[in-house]
Amino acid sequence: MQFTVAIDGPAAAGKGTIGRALAARFGFAHLDTGLLYRAVGALGGDPVAAALGLVAADLERGDLRTLAAGQAASVVAAIPEVRAALVEFQRRFARAEGGAVLDGRDIGTVICPRAEVKLYVTASAEVRAHRRWLEVGGDVASVLAEVMERDARDMGRSAAPLKPALDAVMIDTSELPIAAAIAAAVALVEARL
Ligand code: C5P
Repeated sequence: MQFTVAIDGPAAAGKGTIGRALAARFGFAHLDTGLLYRAVGALGGDPVAAALGLVAADLERGDLRTLAAGQAASVVAAIPEVRAALVEFQRRFARAEGGAVLDGRDIGTVICPRAEVKLYVTASAEVRAHRRWLEVGGDVASVLAEVMERDARDMGRSAAPLKPALDAVMIDTSELPIAAAIAAAVALVEARL
């Protein structure tokens, strides 16, 4: 069986949590596509060469989850040749036997426009910054500034900007408990299976 769930949205909206929960519930494979861009940013050097040469071990570096790695990812992610180098891998993953969940910024719009289920998970910048701050600590105001800077770059770029697919179901987690967001996503997948 091939079945793709595409989850897009800005940083710290809850995409990863929902994606992992769906994968566990339905036995789908899960790909956090942000890791691909984080790894390209962290490798340094020519980002296009890094994207073309990316291997599985690059996704296991310990330094991919930092705020700096997120910023570096969003800079290299605006380069069309970097994005192009990563398309095929993501599409192959999405159509793997047994079903797949991919979360990112352009999954429902560019990578898997025919995904069986598309979700756009979002929340206010303040709520997302607070969640990120609980993980990374430091100064709340600078975490909010970082979140807003990354949103602006991801939404404003010309190559595959972050935006909801026309047929995506919106889930706003600003005030919705994560268990309720997961239940809504599970119901959508069940209805489509
Ligand atoms: O999701 P995460 O915060 O790990 O993503 C890091 C950065 O990678 C994003 O800010 C975005 O610029 C880029 N990205 C992207 N397309 C994706 C996934 C991530 O452009 N599908």
